[in-house]
Order: sequence, then C-alpha cells, then structure tokens
Amino acid sequence: MKNFTIILIAVALSGASLGLSQTSYAAEKQAATETKKPKAADKAVAKKKSKKPNFARGAKLWANRCTGCHNIRAPKDLTDSEWKATMMHMRIRAGLSGQDARDILEFLQRSN
Ligand code: HEC
Repeated sequence: MKNFTIILIAVALSGASLGLSQTSYAAEKQAATETKKPKAADKAVAKKKSKKPNFARGAKLWANRCTGCHNIRAPKDLTDSEWKATMMHMRIRAGLSGQDARDILEFLQRSN
C-alpha cells in the first residue's frame, strides 16, 4: 500500500512537471515569435526609407565627406568595381550611412 501511494505521487509529480515544461515551451515559442515580429517590421521600415541612389546628393556628399582625411579622389581614378570596393572601405572610415554611401557610389560610378 505504501509503495502504491509513492508511485501515485510520483506519477502525479511527473505529470505536473510535464505540464509545466509544456507551458514553458509554449511561452518560449511565443517569446521567439514576439522577438521576430519587430525585426520584420523594422526591415519593412528600413526598406521603405532607403531611396534610390541620388546622383546630385552623392556629388555634394563626396565633396563634403571625402576630403577630411586625404585629398579628394577623382571619380576617374578608379573603375566601377574598384569604387564599389573602396566605398565599402571608406564608408566605415567616414562613418557614412548606407544611403550616403550609395549616393556617393552612384556619383562616382557615373562620373568616371
Ligand atoms: C576618416 C578618414 C577618411 C575619410 C572620411 C575618407 N577616407 Fe578614403 N582613405 C582613408 C585612409 C586612411 C586611406 C588609406 C589607407 C586605407 O586604404 O585604409 C584612404 C584611402 C582611400 C582611397 C585609396 C584606396 C586604394 O585602395 O587605393 C580612396 C580612393 C579613398 N580613400 C576614397 C575615399 C572616398 C570616396 C571617401 C568619401 C566617401 C573617403 N575616401 C573618405 C581615410 C578616409
């Protein structure tokens, strides 16, 4: 009789813990989808905000932002693909936003 009671308690406990782990799994799953949602929303906003590369804006930015550390480099100095690689590098150095870098690249590639 004693053994039977112990088994009953054990079964009840394991059932309870199973139930608990299921709810925590559900909570984790919900938390995971909740953290995903804002990310997707942010992406949509970022996509909306990024405009087509702007040549005129790029030309201005090139004159203002590319002269702080060295002499200005003429668009003709490099080929399109060289400018692409250089802009990835200089974007970091100059602390440019993605849009600024795209605008400058547009100007450089269309003027070389
Ligand atoms: C914060 C300083 C800084 C700013 C701002 C900056 N550069 Fe540079 N740039 C450097 C340094 C330092 C080098 C040389 C060393 C290196 O390549 O990292 C360089 C090298 C270059 C080169 C030569 C690369 C090569 O491989 O021959 C080009 C072209 C260039 N920069 C273009 C630009 C353009 C275009 C901009 C504007 C978007 C810009 N830089 C803004 C610091 C800067």
